[in-house]
Formats: sequence, C-alpha cells, structure tokens
Amino acid sequence: MLVNPFDNRPGHIWLDGGFVPWGDARLHVLSHGLHYASSVFEGERAYGGEIFKLTEHTERLKESARILDFEIPWSVEEIDEACRQTLAKQGFKDAYIRPVAWRGSEMMAVAAQSSKIHLAIAAWEWPSYFDPELRMKGLTLDLAEWRRPDPRTIPCKAKAAGLYMICTLSKHAAERKGCADAMMLDWRGQVAECTGANIFFVKDGAIHTPTPDCFLDGITRRTVIGLAKDRQIPVIERAILPEELSGMQECFITGTAAEVTAVAKIADWNFTPGDITKTLMADYTTAVQPKKAFAAA
Ligand SMILES: Cc1ncc(COP(=O)(O)O)c(C=O)c1O
Repeated sequence: MLVNPFDNRPGHIWLDGGFVPWGDARLHVLSHGLHYASSVFEGERAYGGEIFKLTEHTERLKESARILDFEIPWSVEEIDEACRQTLAKQGFKDAYIRPVAWRGSEMMAVAAQSSKIHLAIAAWEWPSYFDPELRMKGLTLDLAEWRRPDPRTIPCKAKAAGLYMICTLSKHAAERKGCADAMMLDWRGQVAECTGANIFFVKDGAIHTPTPDCFLDGITRRTVIGLAKDRQIPVIERAILPEELSGMQECFITGTAAEVTAVAKIADWNFTPGDITKTLMADYTTAVQPKKAFAAA
C-alpha cells in the first residue's frame, strides 16, 4: 500500500534549471530514458542541512553520464548548488537527495544522439533505510540468484538505472522471504555487494571486502575504509568466495542510504555484530555531521 506516493508531495523539484511544483515535474512517455534506460542518478544524504560528500556524488553523476555517452549540460558547481538549493527550498535538514539525468524524447530508437539531456533533483525526508533497531542487531540477508555481470557486458562503474533491474528482482525475492536485502555474487561466483550497498566482513581483527572490479566502489565504502585505517584496523580488499563466509565473525554493509549497518545472517551464514562494526557505525555517524556546525563549535 502506498501511503505517501512520490508523484504527489508538497514542495518543489528542480527540473532543467529551475524549480517546478512537485506534481508538475513530469516527463513524456516517449522518453529515451524510460524505454532504453539512458538514465543515471545519485543518492545523497544531508545531515544537519549539509549534503555529505556532495561534490563526490556530483562528479560521479557526471562521470556516469559520460560512461553512457552523454554530457549533463550543467557543471559540477552548478549541480552542487542546485542540490543545496533543492534541500533549502524543501526546508529539510536531514534528508535524501536524488539527482537524476536522462535522455529525452527527441529520438525514439536505440540511437539517441539528438535527444535532449534532462536533469532533475528532488529531496525528501528519509530517516533510516533499515529499521534503526535492526541496524545494530544485524540484518538478515538473502543470497541473490542474480549475479553482478562481467564488466565487459555492462558499464559497471556507472550508477545507471539499467543496472538496478537485477537489484529490484533480488530485493523483491529477499523481501518475500522476510529478509531485509540480498547479497549478490558476481559473474565469477565471488562475493560482490548488496542491491544498494557494499559489503564488509571481519575476521581476527582485520576487515575483508571484495575488490570493486565489477560493481560500484561506493563513496561510503571509501569513507569507511578511511575510518578503519584511521583506527589502524587492517583493511584487505580481495576476491572473497562464499565458502569463506563461515569463517567470518562480523559482517556489515555500507551505502549512502544504508550508512553502516550490521548484518547478522546471510542465507545459512551467521555473524555477530561486534566491536569493529560498532566502532565504524559510530565513527561514520561522527564523520557525516555537518562541518559548518563543527567550525562554529
Ligand atoms: C548497487 C550499489 N552498490 C553500492 C552502493 C553504495 O554507494 P554509495 O556509498 O556511494 O552510496 C550503492 C548506493 O548508491 C548501490 O546502489
């Protein structure tokens, strides 16, 4: 049941250079982005009125578009400013921000060189992706049937809408089984990531995480690796086989939406949220606090 549908909310959405009332931010049904998935997006989060790592997100958005062979006709600075304005216009301090760019409806075929490029930015309040109580207790994850594809078959470094098709299928299958999310293997059968988050394991005081060679090297992933290194916790990026999971003691996932969230179970593998997970959850919460507030303190 949809309680608060996304096409009808109060406020405004930034669309192609200016604000329009939320309900008027529409696109034509013959948009290339809808038919052929020529669409890239970002998921950003604001804490205390400041968007965490905003420029990194905007740079990734621009790069995702380039990988899909189109150029977003606004600069990184202009997009950063539009994201800040969107947040301010909605009057939110703690919120999720969603920029999305897509090819329009000028050409309706696989080729779309003359299609106009659109950009929209929306912001909404979104306190926690997973149930806050579960985040500390640890999520139960399914093992997805779908695998992250060979990088020779998809533009795996783009945050592109088309790459989420198997994520939606995997997340639906997981939720049908009562799981919060699904861990996906890659095309080689190695551990990859979740449907919208990267994954980490802890064994004997060291962190192990898959090398991001066919999936998104998340901004949160890189932040958390930095936080672990600041605490002299060794971080080993390597190929991880599912058979190894029985020897892992802790598991957690990272993402802008997921933040740092403990995992208690994946299929038949069990983990106990422990000191390293708890430390990094707390360090991440500190790291995302608005810098202006720190400067003023
Ligand atoms: C498939 C996938 N992997 C990983 C991540 C984590 O990326 P980030 O930490 O940049 O949000 C996300 C979220 O954007 C994602 O959708």
